[in-house]
Amino acid sequence: MRAGRWGIASHRPAPFGVPFRVAAQYKSAMEPTFVPYADRYVPGAPPEAAAQACYDVLRRRRSVRQFSDRPVSLATVEWIVRAAASAPSGANKQPWRFVAVRDAALKREIRLGAEAEEREFYTRRASERWLDDLAPFGTDDSKPYLEIAPWLIVVFRLVRADDGGQVYYGEESCGIAVGMLLAAAQYAGLATLTHTPSPMRFLGEILGRPAHERPYMLIPLGYPAEPCQVPVHALTRRPLEETLLVRG
Ligand SMILES: Cc1cc2nc3c(=O)[nH]c(=O)nc-3n(C[C@H](O)[C@H](O)[C@H](O)COP(=O)(O)O)c2cc1C
Repeated sequence: MRAGRWGIASHRPAPFGVPFRVAAQYKSAMEPTFVPYADRYVPGAPPEAAAQACYDVLRRRRSVRQFSDRPVSLATVEWIVRAAASAPSGANKQPWRFVAVRDAALKREIRLGAEAEEREFYTRRASERWLDDLAPFGTDDSKPYLEIAPWLIVVFRLVRADDGGQVYYGEESCGIAVGMLLAAAQYAGLATLTHTPSPMRFLGEILGRPAHERPYMLIPLGYPAEPCQVPVHALTRRPLEETLLVRG
């Protein structure tokens, strides 16, 4: 790739979120450099079999609301968060922070905060239709698992970088990172729940996070209780014919 006066800027697509007119005059502060993509993952099976094997692991993930208090090591959490943070993100800004909570007093505070919001939700905020849609899951404002699970991973979305700089596609980036976190936990044989007690401001307050970090998801992590029950309604997925449309 030949770098001219503008590097390769004249052929470079507009940076995310930059209107075309501005992009046409845009000159990057940093020239691109490239290395060979050598560290590629090569599965031990052809793509079809490898993808099927992955599906066979991920399809058995369940949102768990009954946790064991069996400990999970910090090292395990670190690997899972490394996996999550390897996610793609807009302009690689990595607009996320993961706060891993093991402290019993903090977990209790989080449970009480979540239950207060959930009480409001179930008695006042939720529409009839929403409550109807939740009925098959048997959920209510009681969240004992927030104290029982060995870890609560609180995911924050950065609306600004730590140095005050821009981030792009924060919602999408955090969604992908959380998806990868759930998958990594599943590969580790651990259970999770994507919990969204809304609004989640209390999480930032309890954990003393700065204003540019917005609570995104509360994820209990640990082993399922034994026995552990899951709602039948969560087990089905729409058939592939409805989910995937193939053209060509
Ligand atoms: C964005 C999002 C928010 C969710 N919020 C909650 C929640 O606040 N409480 C809860 O018990 N489950 C919550 N869930 C879990 C869903 O109910 C669950 O994913 C769905 O029923 C499918 O079940 P499964 O995860 O076991 O496949 C949430 C899931 C997602 C993706």
